[in-house]
Amino acid sequence: MTLEIVILAAGQGTRMKSTLPKVLHPVAGRPLLEHVVRTAQALRPAGIHVVVGHGAEQVREALSHIKLNWVVQEEQLGTGHAVMQAMPGLSADSVVLVLYGDVPLTELATLEELVACAADAPALLTAELADPSGYGRILRNAAGELVGVVEDKDATPEQRAIAEINSGLLAAPHADFAHYLPQVQNENKQAEYYLPDILSLAVADGKRVASCSAQSELEILGVNDRVQLNQVEREFQRRQALALMREGVSLADAGRIDVRGTLNCAEDVSIDVNCVFEGEVTLGSGARIGANCVLKDVVVGEGAEIHPMSHLEQAQVGERCSVGPFARLRPGTVLAEGARVGNFVETKKASIGAGSKVNHLSYIGDCEMGAGVNVGAGTITCNYDGVNKHQTTMGDGVFIGSNSTLVAPLSIEEDGFVGAGSTVTKKVESSELAVARAKQRNIAGWERPGKSK
Ligand code: UD1
Ligand code: CA
Repeated sequence: MTLEIVILAAGQGTRMKSTLPKVLHPVAGRPLLEHVVRTAQALRPAGIHVVVGHGAEQVREALSHIKLNWVVQEEQLGTGHAVMQAMPGLSADSVVLVLYGDVPLTELATLEELVACAADAPALLTAELADPSGYGRILRNAAGELVGVVEDKDATPEQRAIAEINSGLLAAPHADFAHYLPQVQNENKQAEYYLPDILSLAVADGKRVASCSAQSELEILGVNDRVQLNQVEREFQRRQALALMREGVSLADAGRIDVRGTLNCAEDVSIDVNCVFEGEVTLGSGARIGANCVLKDVVVGEGAEIHPMSHLEQAQVGERCSVGPFARLRPGTVLAEGARVGNFVETKKASIGAGSKVNHLSYIGDCEMGAGVNVGAGTITCNYDGVNKHQTTMGDGVFIGSNSTLVAPLSIEEDGFVGAGSTVTKKVESSELAVARAKQRNIAGWERPGKSK
């Protein structure tokens, strides 16, 4: 059986109070709509058709990395009208599943069941809610069979008391959509073409409409405002934290980790509280991440430790390295095995060789550093002359005394040594000592100034 999936995403999302289209608001670092698309992809359909209207161009642009069939609904005349726009692109011999671009927490198994129920007649995903207000209510006959859906705005007080609601998600054979959608009228309070009206039309034709019930309220939770957006965000984070722990990651607190992208972990990784992972982050076996770290597009090698309050972006940290506390690794930082970058050190486009140490209060930018180098506290690579950036290179075994200013372009050859407090502007040859600071003068018998009268 062929499956076609239609995702409705043309609505404005007024209650978000935002210039950004609702379905582009981020959840776990990705647009809301992308989560629905990923769920759809997991069902392996023949095609995914996304109905867009408000902010259509922006939505298409944001998801341009995924192959989708875009359908434009110029005017938002209702959910039935929205599906109608997608019909020309659907293969006739298929079951069609309708998802909402703003309902991202539906489980795969639930959707598989819904599709399986829709082989011969429509099937609807419903839920029982303690507070059903706002939703379409499920109408059943005396035999308990589903006979239709009445929208909240059109419902009588008796109907409003019904706790079973329409999630909005439904599936049906293509033939049923083709047959019943054109019959849907818009004579209702909202003057809209309601998609669920195909159900009562099918029932009137003698068909039996199936219903599947959602496992939890979260499965049908739609995002209409930023409060619901946050509910969805927290649920995603909860699920990701559970998945990480099941993969062998120790979390100090499953409720205090945020993954906004993809976090790949080998075994025995441990993560302390309040860490944020963005983009694509990979943590090697036994890596430890201290409290309050932010890592974006980072690879951390086996056994490495990132101490608390460190910020790393587009950086590679080798095996058994030590970073932080309070370190900032900016894009292009590469630490070879066993390197150490300590507190209040900033690096950028810097490759730090195996076992080299930059332990305190330094800026290392545009720098190629060999192995076994020791950079003293307060060392600065002066990489910028106000116009251009210049490179600093240090050979293996170099020693830089504290508070040195290395004016790039500069090369300090293997085993070169720089005396503390130097401003170095010329190449230092292999094993040379460079001292570039004012010579000390001691004045004997010097008298301190006295207080003026
Ligand atoms: C809809 C259902 C209601 C159900 C509820 C569940 C209808 C008539 N009502 O109501 O029974 O309980 O969802 O959340 O279907 N959309 C379009 N084009 C349109 C209209 C809507 O693409 O012309 C999209 C929206 O972007 C949204 C989805 O369809 O993703 C649902 O639309 P919305 O206006 O939120 O429907 P509700 O009134 O909540
Ligand atoms: Ca809604």
